[in-house]
Amino acid sequence: YEVEWDAGAADKGGWSSFMAKEINEQPEAIANTIRGRIVDGHVEIPELTELGAERLQNIDRIIIIACGTASYAGMVGSYAIEQWARVPVEVQLSHEFRYRDPVLSDRTMVISVSQSGETMDTLMAVKYAIEQGVTTVSVCNTQSATIPRESDAAVYTHAGPEVAVASTKAFIAQITALYLIGLHLGRARGVLSAEAEAAAVEQLEALPEKMVEAVATHEQIAELAHWMADTRSVLFLGRHVGYPAALEGALKLKEIAYIHAEGFAAGELKHGPIALIDHGQPVFVLVPSPRTSPLMHSKVVSNIQEIRARGARVIAIVEKGDTAVLPFADEVVRIPLTDALFDPILQVVPLQWFALELSTAKGLDVDQPRNLAKSVTVE
Ligand code: G6P
Repeated sequence: YEVEWDAGAADKGGWSSFMAKEINEQPEAIANTIRGRIVDGHVEIPELTELGAERLQNIDRIIIIACGTASYAGMVGSYAIEQWARVPVEVQLSHEFRYRDPVLSDRTMVISVSQSGETMDTLMAVKYAIEQGVTTVSVCNTQSATIPRESDAAVYTHAGPEVAVASTKAFIAQITALYLIGLHLGRARGVLSAEAEAAAVEQLEALPEKMVEAVATHEQIAELAHWMADTRSVLFLGRHVGYPAALEGALKLKEIAYIHAEGFAAGELKHGPIALIDHGQPVFVLVPSPRTSPLMHSKVVSNIQEIRARGARVIAIVEKGDTAVLPFADEVVRIPLTDALFDPILQVVPLQWFALELSTAKGLDVDQPRNLAKSVTVE
């Protein structure tokens, strides 16, 4: 009698897929990315300090370049960096960047975001930026990969190896690293108030524990996915930092469940996408915190009423204690309280689970979706 030994299952630590394992590792991914970078209440990234105080003070424009999930992490990060460092930040897809003949100078900082550090589109964009004499910073999860080696500074995310093609914990760690960069730059440039820094540091340090709760939405989402297994199209709505989180939720669903999905900025709904809303159309809505962004919250609640009136089936991701959406939502998923800027880090988790559960329900290979590679090393 021999016990069958499945090496693959062992590596998954008992989980049904690497993706499930990696979603569960998100609290650690955040904690490990923050570790050692908050000293006496201040964010200190030695790799950025080494660039020199003058260089950081002179930066007048930041361009984040990335592809896929990393570009959505970049979009989330752009709001935080702009808010804390008071520098205009834009996000460009790596493969679009150099073809537009971008306006660059020695006061520009290009931040590339790449889990693998080997994505050819992003590497070529970084090389182009270097030729133009800009400061290049790499946010990367893979030690000594090509992109961080080529860049002036490397700020590593410490999410640990990510095996599933669909990125989860690396995405969360990328946002965390970009937030740390925003706080470092804000302080280095003398534009970050002590109160804003203290509040952000407090939120960051509390995140791993809150992430444990966000991960615990699994059971509820698994049930939801069960009755939605034959869904053919899903829409995602978000505002502000919830917008890139909505795009990421849609991408996850396309990648591993092969379901048509679109993410929209909630305010854009009335300018076109609302025409898509028909009876029974599932729409995930990422609802901003009513405590820390009451104005955005009330706008999103009206968006929910508008789509509900047209027959949408609304799945609202809300902060615990937010009862405003209850009358208009078919399903309410609750995540822990945090400040508005930090919402997407937690809100995206039920969307990751949803994609995983729908993929599983359809009998697909969650970790290795058709036509996709973990790292795309061709242009
Ligand atoms: C591939 C993967 C995506 C990933 C993208 C960027 O397309 O399938 O999941 O988001 O590359 O990868 P990177 O390693 O640069 O973060």
